[in-house]
Amino acid sequence: MLMTNFLQKRKSVRNFKNDVVPKDKLENIKLLMDEIGKSESDIKFSFYENGSIIADGLKGKAGYDGVMIKAPHYIALEIREDNAMNALKCGYFLEKLNTKIVNLDIDTCWITVDQVDLETKRSVFGKDGENINFLIGLGYGAKKKLFDPEVTSPRLKVEEIMFKDKIGLPVSIEELENYGIFDIFSSVRYAPSHKNFQPWRFVLEGNKIHAYMRKSSEDSRSLVDMGVVLFYVEEMMKSININNKWDIDLKEEDDYYYIGSYNI
Ligand SMILES: Cc1cc2nc3c(=O)[nH]c(=O)nc-3n(C[C@H](O)[C@H](O)[C@H](O)COP(=O)(O)O)c2cc1C
Repeated sequence: MLMTNFLQKRKSVRNFKNDVVPKDKLENIKLLMDEIGKSESDIKFSFYENGSIIADGLKGKAGYDGVMIKAPHYIALEIREDNAMNALKCGYFLEKLNTKIVNLDIDTCWITVDQVDLETKRSVFGKDGENINFLIGLGYGAKKKLFDPEVTSPRLKVEEIMFKDKIGLPVSIEELENYGIFDIFSSVRYAPSHKNFQPWRFVLEGNKIHAYMRKSSEDSRSLVDMGVVLFYVEEMMKSININNKWDIDLKEEDDYYYIGSYNI
């Protein structure tokens, strides 16, 4: 499926059936974890097949306001050192894996565990558990009842996240279309983010796109969201035959963090 369509359709699933994911799919996921993890020495994925141990151990402690999401399986991402670059990598690589899992017709949800005390983390995940800040719960979503309302998280408009030369200055749709990136940035809006903060802002300047993160009281989490969105931009650019990578150059700029630039 095209990444633009994928993103517009993807949704967090928080209510899972008890059914486990078949063994062959789990093996497939483990291969994907090895494949994605092998080139990166700062991150490590771990797979937890028996989800109930994780769900019970983190009950009341993980997730938004301690609402732990119960899933049959979990994947954790461990970072070697807690710094801004590794937070970006956490978002980038965990979402890269997430897209591949969703493409196997498996439902997922990100779960924040950075607020969980170290002792609990060690007892649930093992001795290196203190370096785990985010998980993905995976399984099959419970069918909704016929009249359950559709839950959708609202998104900012393109003109609220994309600017020309400077944050705040409008960019025209025509200009984005001239570069072939209007569809891409219309879809980027659907990327998942912690508490749906959508901290990403983009500035088109010449043939460069600059990425910024809006500062808040939850910057360490927003950096992970930025990693997620950087991944999606790179993936979607491939659909217009641009295979570049973000050039990361983290620095503070007033109400924003400058994250880096991408050549188009
Ligand atoms: C870094 C990150 C952390 C998240 N943590 C949680 C969480 O702890 N609990 C939860 O229910 N959802 C969590 N989410 C899911 C977001 O709330 C969700 O992606 C966002 O609200 C958009 O909704 P959607 O995914 O259904 O489009 C997290 C997402 C990200 C990217």
